[in-house]
Amino acid sequence: MTKIALSEYQTRRAAILSQMLPNSACVVGSAQSVTRSNDTEYVFRQDSYFWYLTGFDEPNSTLILLKDTLGQTRQVICCQPKDTQAEIWHGRRLGCDAAVATLGVDEAFSSDTLAQTLFSLFSGVDTVYSLFTQPIQVQIDKCILELKSVPKQGEIAPTQKIDCQGWLDAMRLIKSPAEIDIMAEVATISAQAHSVAMQVCRPNMNEYQLEAHIQFEFAQRGARQPAYTSIVGGGDNACILHYTQNNQVLNAGELVLIDAGGELEGYAADITRTFPVNGRFSEDQAALYQIVLDAQMAAIELLQPNSLIADANQVVIEIITQGLIDLGVLSGSLKDNIDNLTYRQYFMHGLGHYLGLDVHDVGAYSIAGKACPLQPGTLMTVEPGVYIAPGSPCPARFHGIGIRIEDNIVITSSGNRVLTDKVPKTIAAIEALMAQS
Ligand code: GLY
Ligand code: MN
Ligand code: MN
Repeated sequence: MTKIALSEYQTRRAAILSQMLPNSACVVGSAQSVTRSNDTEYVFRQDSYFWYLTGFDEPNSTLILLKDTLGQTRQVICCQPKDTQAEIWHGRRLGCDAAVATLGVDEAFSSDTLAQTLFSLFSGVDTVYSLFTQPIQVQIDKCILELKSVPKQGEIAPTQKIDCQGWLDAMRLIKSPAEIDIMAEVATISAQAHSVAMQVCRPNMNEYQLEAHIQFEFAQRGARQPAYTSIVGGGDNACILHYTQNNQVLNAGELVLIDAGGELEGYAADITRTFPVNGRFSEDQAALYQIVLDAQMAAIELLQPNSLIADANQVVIEIITQGLIDLGVLSGSLKDNIDNLTYRQYFMHGLGHYLGLDVHDVGAYSIAGKACPLQPGTLMTVEPGVYIAPGSPCPARFHGIGIRIEDNIVITSSGNRVLTDKVPKTIAAIEALMAQS
């Protein structure tokens, strides 16, 4: 089980049940193991929604929440049955008997009988809620068709299917104190790993060797896996936003961009730092870096309860665009560069995103065309960047410089808290840390 109390999972399920219509069922499936090649599999990663509702880390499992016509509720789990041979080969299973108490549900059935269980639970139910993106849709549809094909035996098939993703996304967007504690912990672990990377980086190291230090530090500090494939890009590789080859030599005189975060109890950190491979920023690198840092710090100031991400982003665009004009990377007026979107050749992504069980976490950014103001308990990244790819229409001395600075913040009732402040980001602090090593 996890650091989240059983009662919190029960509260989450109760919140779903309270929104369900009478005489309905809600089905949420686990992830399945995914083949890597032939008969080997990727490390199992639970489905984020299933994990959010159960804290149960096994594949082949299904949560079924039921509400009858009188509003009485029942919580059912289908999970892998105990099986000595399967457990010798593939790992321990909780099993149906233990699942009831461990997961705090009313009943547990073997996943081997999922089709029959769905058939009996759906019979007579009007509405089935589910997540339309989940593969469990196939079994839900099959079950409904089977129920419809046996009218003479008195089975009654559900008549409507409703996607309940919006309910879950709204819940997942606002983190509980227990979730914030875990996310603060993985943010600190990840920040410490980035600090180590700054200290061990040397010219002529390969990008994947620097990546190895980051991953070692994640695991050593309690986060076994990265939350996403780490990006370690030296020189102009930093200008490829989702660069993951990580197989080039790091050269003195170049910057290296590391975008990496650990995963703890399913929760992600997402940090980027950019620093000089040899420990000293050149004048041009420092000038561009300071623009990104000024923009990032201005954004963090602005991201408060009830503020809009778009408003902070506008300030970031203005700081970056003016900075690039001042350096001669862009020419013309601030207004023209912003109106004509010319700044987007150097800053082409958004300011940040929600963070949680998914690195690009769920939750609405706008509803009916209206931007959603930030609420306390929201975790997000703040990650402006400037990327001057080779061949860009600007002085050649700036070519091949890519810079992003990414922190994770939680919106509080009075402002925000930066969770990733254990890794330096000012030029002076980065150079001082690298000089110590
Ligand atoms: N690591 C992916 C991102 O920063 O959005
Ligand atoms: Mn990132
Ligand atoms: Mn990010």
